[in-house]
Amino acid sequence: MLNGNITITQFIIEEQRRIQGATGDFTSLLNDIVTACKVISNLVNHGALVGVLGQAGTENVQGEDQKKLDVISNEVFLRSNEWAGHLAAMASEEMEDIYTIPKQYPRGKYLLTFDPLDGSSNIDVNVSVGTIFSILRCPGECASPGADAFLQAGTQQVCAGYALYGPSTMMVLTTGNGVNGFTLDQNIGEFVLTHPNMTIPTETKEFAINASNGRFWEAPVKRYVDECLAGSEGPRKKDFNMRWIASMVAEVHRILTRGGIFMYPLDEKMKAKGLGGKLRLMYEANPMSFIIEQAGGMSTTGRERIMAIKPDDLHQRVPVILGSKAEVERVTAYHFDDGQDTRRVSAA
Ligand code: AHG
Ligand code: MN
Ligand code: MN
Repeated sequence: MLNGNITITQFIIEEQRRIQGATGDFTSLLNDIVTACKVISNLVNHGALVGVLGQAGTENVQGEDQKKLDVISNEVFLRSNEWAGHLAAMASEEMEDIYTIPKQYPRGKYLLTFDPLDGSSNIDVNVSVGTIFSILRCPGECASPGADAFLQAGTQQVCAGYALYGPSTMMVLTTGNGVNGFTLDQNIGEFVLTHPNMTIPTETKEFAINASNGRFWEAPVKRYVDECLAGSEGPRKKDFNMRWIASMVAEVHRILTRGGIFMYPLDEKMKAKGLGGKLRLMYEANPMSFIIEQAGGMSTTGRERIMAIKPDDLHQRVPVILGSKAEVERVTAYHFDDGQDTRRVSAA
């Protein structure tokens, strides 16, 4: 306890004490992740002063242009988490292959996946960005895990979290026992519990979608957005507000704070390119779905619960519709009304 405040370290240790047979490995791993996020936060805060803005001049495995900070943040995560002996391997949005722990370090029982810098198109314009991560148990012996070790449904996650580099730096975490938010006190260099037991309001009047893709949307998404836009004169009988930050971390944080729905749905343009969606299952959709469900919200592809998907590729992309339960239920129901799919969504 620090002047009446609970630090993230104390919080994690106390959580661990509740788990029978816990060895301290998990606490220690989480501490290394926290350190990595503090380093990234510091770089993001200093921006042009430390020469980290702009393009890296390279492409990642998804064919996206990398920013300098995408590459630097990825390195920070690897270096912070490779040495301590808690991990068997890591996988990142920015790396084609999994990262196996180098021979000189001991190997552990966990797997770490991450999006080192989410919303990186915002970095040069000084708008909020974040880091998303997820921890899985390594199945089997774990001596030399391959990519298949990571292909576990989101329901298997041990922990998920994000750091938000906004006006203040925050860390939001779940280990399957609710969602808690911590704010970085720059003066003491510690995350302090400021948002205990975060829950999402069920009803909302705010939606987030990149409307420039509107002409490619499928009928159920068009219907939902049209009804929101019709406002108090339409079937919803209330006016809606719209937001699009293009940083999933910032959108999810807003939804955790005041409710709302976020959609990056499947559309005709993606289908034509053979893509399953825009956002990545292992690095974005699964960790955010775990947090959203733990806060009382819901997360689907429109057709199925995201956390129930058994991944078949490390870099798999999925449609994402998440946030306040009543709204996500509505959009999901529209997909079935439309006769496009007969599968039912079983929520958490
Ligand atoms: P990343 O910066 O890690 O590639 O992720 C960006 C993601 C997500 O954060 C955001 O919601 C979405 O892509 C924005 O996409 P558009 O630019 O198509 O709106
Ligand atoms: Mn991202
Ligand atoms: Mn990213």
